[in-house]
Amino acid sequence: MSEQAEKFKVKIDNISVEVEPGTTILQAAREIGGDVTPPAMCYYSKLEGSGGKCRTCLVEVSKGSDRDERPMPKLMASCRTQVMDGMEVKNITSERVKEARAGVVEFLLMNHPLDCPICDQAGECHLQDLGYEHGAEGTRYEFERRTFKKENFGPYIQLHMTRCILCYRCTYVADQLTDSRGHGIVDRGDHAAISTYIEKAVDNDFSGNMIDVCPVGALTDKTFRFKNRVWFTKPVYAHRDCDKCCGEVTLWNRGENVLRATARKDEWGEVKDSQKDGKPGWICNTCRFDKKKTDEWTIEGPADVSRHSVINQGHHSGTFSKGEETFSKIMQGRKPKLLMDIHDVSEVNKKQ
Ligand code: SF4
Ligand code: FES
Repeated sequence: MSEQAEKFKVKIDNISVEVEPGTTILQAAREIGGDVTPPAMCYYSKLEGSGGKCRTCLVEVSKGSDRDERPMPKLMASCRTQVMDGMEVKNITSERVKEARAGVVEFLLMNHPLDCPICDQAGECHLQDLGYEHGAEGTRYEFERRTFKKENFGPYIQLHMTRCILCYRCTYVADQLTDSRGHGIVDRGDHAAISTYIEKAVDNDFSGNMIDVCPVGALTDKTFRFKNRVWFTKPVYAHRDCDKCCGEVTLWNRGENVLRATARKDEWGEVKDSQKDGKPGWICNTCRFDKKKTDEWTIEGPADVSRHSVINQGHHSGTFSKGEETFSKIMQGRKPKLLMDIHDVSEVNKKQ
């Protein structure tokens, strides 16, 4: 009989969780969920090798393990650091982390254009959320921002390199989902850029997934560009029989018109697993770009959208994620008293 590997006990922001050895701090934090989970701009659990580029997921390891209790001197990238038994980690409870994260956001925004009002990613942009949650109000940057020419990746994808944060996710999609990679990062340092180098089309059948993994508005869907603000659309889950992919999508509708089709996303903004085989539900370019009529799809119902998302302002989503009820935990099981007779607890002014 095979022996089951013992689980590691980890504490993140004073909340305990037990995970398999080999789990990263970020994944352990995702098991707890909520604010304890560090933000991740480059890590993507469904793309092998991703992570370790953006540093937004930095955490403080205040106790290395039960065996070696020494804290780690530097803040660690939680997406690349594996847990140890007895490890204690601070994320939102660490002032060092908050300060470092604000610094990382400042760096990411240094050359990023503040064009949210006209950017197609607005409302579902991870950098926009990160800026609101961890960024400073003003900028200290006095120099001209780095800009690039817009580039066409074929008929369906537009690259705005000026908005790119060099997370490398799109290159992993091209490497791991498509037959060949036609784009990559050219040059170094301040000049580093995503490019096909000689403006070649990226025309692989699964190339559209690069748009879904891009955390900012650097890669956008040309069939949707400037058609609508995402919060005015109605996201619904739909499927069709497709011989290339799982055919399970989110349709972003306005009235009867399908404005956009994307893969379904989970609470971390990553592609959901397919209901058919439990594998990541990446979708093909035919489902994404060519099927823009509702009668080409079987509509399942409203899509799940986080209740904190601006997309939810139209109240279109299906299941709202309800916040965890913490009151009874704090009260150690005791029920709150909504009505109380003061004479039950006080001797003062006793009833006659
Ligand atoms: S284009 Fe998007 S996905 Fe690709 S490296 Fe830039 S930010 Fe990341
Ligand atoms: S998410 Fe960990 S370094 Fe980017």
